[in-house]
Order: sequence, then structure tokens, then C-alpha cells
Amino acid sequence: MLELRDISFQVTDENDATNKEILKNVNLKVDDRFVAITGPNGGGKSTLAKIIAGIFRPTSGQILLDGVDITNMSITERARAGISFAFQQPVRFKGLTVKDLITLAAGKDINISQACSYLSEVGLCAKDYINREVNASLSGGELKRIEIAMIMARGTKLSIFDEPEAGIDLWSFNNLIQVFESMHEKINGSILIISHQERILNIADKIVVVAGGQIKNVGTKAEVLPDLLGTSEACSTLMDKIV
Ligand SMILES: Nc1ncnc2c1ncn2[C@@H]1O[C@H](COP(=O)(O)OP(=O)(O)O)[C@@H](O)[C@H]1O
Ligand SMILES: [Mg+2]
Repeated sequence: MLELRDISFQVTDENDATNKEILKNVNLKVDDRFVAITGPNGGGKSTLAKIIAGIFRPTSGQILLDGVDITNMSITERARAGISFAFQQPVRFKGLTVKDLITLAAGKDINISQACSYLSEVGLCAKDYINREVNASLSGGELKRIEIAMIMARGTKLSIFDEPEAGIDLWSFNNLIQVFESMHEKINGSILIISHQERILNIADKIVVVAGGQIKNVGTKAEVLPDLLGTSEACSTLMDKIV
């Protein structure tokens, strides 16, 4: 279980040397299998994800994973402790094949059929992809799915995805949602996903709304969506669409 205690994050503006508070006293417990973070652009969602993954250190506050204080752990130590992070933009690794990446992610020698099974999980035909180089010939949607296969191979306690829908076309997006829906059933750890997509919010066990550097709301979709949408009328229309 991940717990954020009173996390604040300040940066100093280079122009006028004033402090800008990006996150303010964030308290959050992630003990559900599928948690969605949503909220307006610039609200602090990506910063929060980077603080959890250890890319940024909080100015104050504590981060605990299964009761262990990981606040001062590096990215690598946190990865070892069980946190995986998928970036908002997929990374391309020149010269490495899909099999190399999945083996690296698994952290041990895995045989070809195990590597292929992760690709099948994310809806890619394994024989077409396993020996392909991860380069510009792969589409955004394919890269996203390979990245998810890597995260599944890693099998960590907490997998963080920052707007996985970004930069992929609608067709790939629909397939990606199916991957997340099936991951929800299969993954052993928790998934923390930043998204604006109704279909992602719809499968979340818990929705967290982050705006203005603070947590504005936390709860199930039935508890959070009416507030998120402002009026109950708008909500019932949306609920009809997504339930
Ligand atoms: N290292 C940084 N230095 C200065 N401002 C930053 C830094 N990181 C993020 N910000 C600012 O913090 C706010 C929150 O950003 P971000 O976490 O990316 O929001 P979101 O992911 O919700 O869109 C934005 O106003 C952004 O410009
Ligand atoms: Mg962001």
C-alpha cells in the first residue's frame, strides 16, 4: 500500500526567484487495485506521479510503501521496492528488440514463450513483434502496448501510468482501454493511472481529483463524478454513457 503524508512540492521561479507551490499538503492512501487520478491540466498530476516514482523529491512530507519510508530512496531503489512508472510520451530504444525490453523488464532470463505471453496480454500478435527493433517504425499505440507488456513482465506492487491515451489514435485507444480492463483483472499489484478518459474513470475502484496542487476529491465514481461534472443533470447523461 502506498501512502502520501502531507506532501508539498515547491520550485523556485528562475525569473523572479519567488517560490511556486506545485503541490500543497497532499495526503493520499492507495490500497485499491485500480486508482485513477484526474483533474485539469496544470493541476499537479504528473508532478505527483513523478514524486511517487522518485523523479522529483518532495519539499516536505513522507512517502510510505507498505509501511516503509521511501521518501529518500532514488528512482532505482524505488523501482526495486516495487514501483514502475510509464512516461506520458513513450520512449524509443534504438537497437533493442521487443524481446530485449521485456527480458530487461522481467529482470531475469525468461523464455520466448513467456515473453510472448506478455505481448498477447496486450493484444499484440507475439510472433509479429517479439524480434522487432523498438524504433520509429512502431506506432504510438504499439509502443504504448509494448510498454504495458514490460510493466506486466516487471510485475511490481505499483504501476503508474501518466495519460497513456496521449498521442495515440482513437482506434488504438479503444484497444488500449481493453488492455487496461483486462489488466484490472490480472495484475497482482495496484495500478495508478492519470487519465481524463471516462472509460478509464469508469473502471477505477477509486478516483482522485487533483487541481491547484491539492486533492479536491477522493472516492468511488458514484461519489466523485457528480462533483467533477458540476451538475447532477450533466452527470446522469455521462453516467448513462459510461455505465
Ligand atoms: N520543475 C518545474 N518547475 C516549474 N514549474 C513546474 C515544474 N514542474 C511542474 N511545474 C508546473 O506545475 C504545475 C503542475 O504541472 P503538472 O504536474 O505537469 O500538471 P498536470 O500533469 O496535472 O497537467 C504546472 O503549472 C507546471 O507548469
Ligand atoms: Mg500531466
